[in-house]
Amino acid sequence: MIRVENLVKQFGAKRAVNGISFTVERGEVLGLLGPNGAGKSTTMRIITGFYPATSGRVTVGGHDVAVDPIRAKALIGYLPESAPSYADMTVQGFLSFIADLRGLSGSAKKAAVHGAVETCLLESVLHQPIDTLSKGYRHRTCLAQAILHDPDVLVLDEPTDGLDPNQKHAARELIRRMGERKAIVFSTHILEEVEAACTRAVIIDRGSVVANGTPAELKARSATAGCVRVTLAGAGAADAAVSQLGQLPGAERAELLPGADPAVDGRVTVRVYPKREGNGAIGAAGAALTVAVAQAAQAGGWQVQALSTEEGRLEDVFRSITLPDTVVQ
Ligand SMILES: Nc1ncnc2c1ncn2[C@@H]1O[C@H](COP(=O)(O)OP(=O)(O)O)[C@@H](O)[C@H]1O
Ligand SMILES: [Mg+2]
Repeated sequence: MIRVENLVKQFGAKRAVNGISFTVERGEVLGLLGPNGAGKSTTMRIITGFYPATSGRVTVGGHDVAVDPIRAKALIGYLPESAPSYADMTVQGFLSFIADLRGLSGSAKKAAVHGAVETCLLESVLHQPIDTLSKGYRHRTCLAQAILHDPDVLVLDEPTDGLDPNQKHAARELIRRMGERKAIVFSTHILEEVEAACTRAVIIDRGSVVANGTPAELKARSATAGCVRVTLAGAGAADAAVSQLGQLPGAERAELLPGADPAVDGRVTVRVYPKREGNGAIGAAGAALTVAVAQAAQAGGWQVQALSTEEGRLEDVFRSITLPDTVVQ
């Protein structure tokens, strides 16, 4: 539904977007992840036809946004960054105005406005001017505007920015649900959002795509993915446990994790890193590491209080592939 090919956007001397490509199919929720200034909003503004691209091409539902913008825009609902709307209109008046712009009238218009109001929980503020609303309601009013015509494609720029934790949760649920039958791209710098709502994530840094995969695939790139984490009691000297676990056949090395003090409560938590093959994959011995750790504990007469295989952390991956000093100009 969305195809972005080799997109470039130059603002004077500044190259905000430097050859970005990705696609979004129906049924997908794509998270655009990246530090501030990475080029997320600029990419979305080009997809929605707000800015022309310097070069490259975007099609929405097969329509080139530069050649056939009206057809492309008819398929898109857009929540721009910081949720702009007309502050002096009432919620009802604003949504009615948007329905007119979308070419809806009569019962279709009524049903569209009603549906958007219901989805975004706006009944209680319908007749209130938008500038008297709390930030959460203002945000939802702009989201209602984006989904009013039941578009096939949704482009949401930081849709949970400024919402409280309950509202954030509700917004993510809504995005996930709507994503089952639409193509959605949303931007965020909140990593947990990607896990909660996305089927796939594209990480952008300094105008370029640096990773593209499912949240699980991205997490698997983290240095701690596949590590076995074990909390032991009665292991005696922590150093001995670490050294013994680090020498297991599937282990690369082991480290003591900070936390419980063995001298005080007799517990230690150890992370055992699996052996990796040349391509970074975890070999058969590495995959059997959890069992090996449990057996070593049993043989050593240690009590296992917790044992898990780590999935890896998106935050580690994000930090390892994006540069910390992206300057917002
Ligand atoms: N209209 C503009 N004119 C000049 N520079 C811009 C403009 N819009 C964005 N930029 C610059 O492009 C870069 C990317 O910005 P943006 O797409 O807003 O990043 P993000 O949404 O990922 O935080 C930033 O360095 C920003 O300052
Ligand atoms: Mg932005």
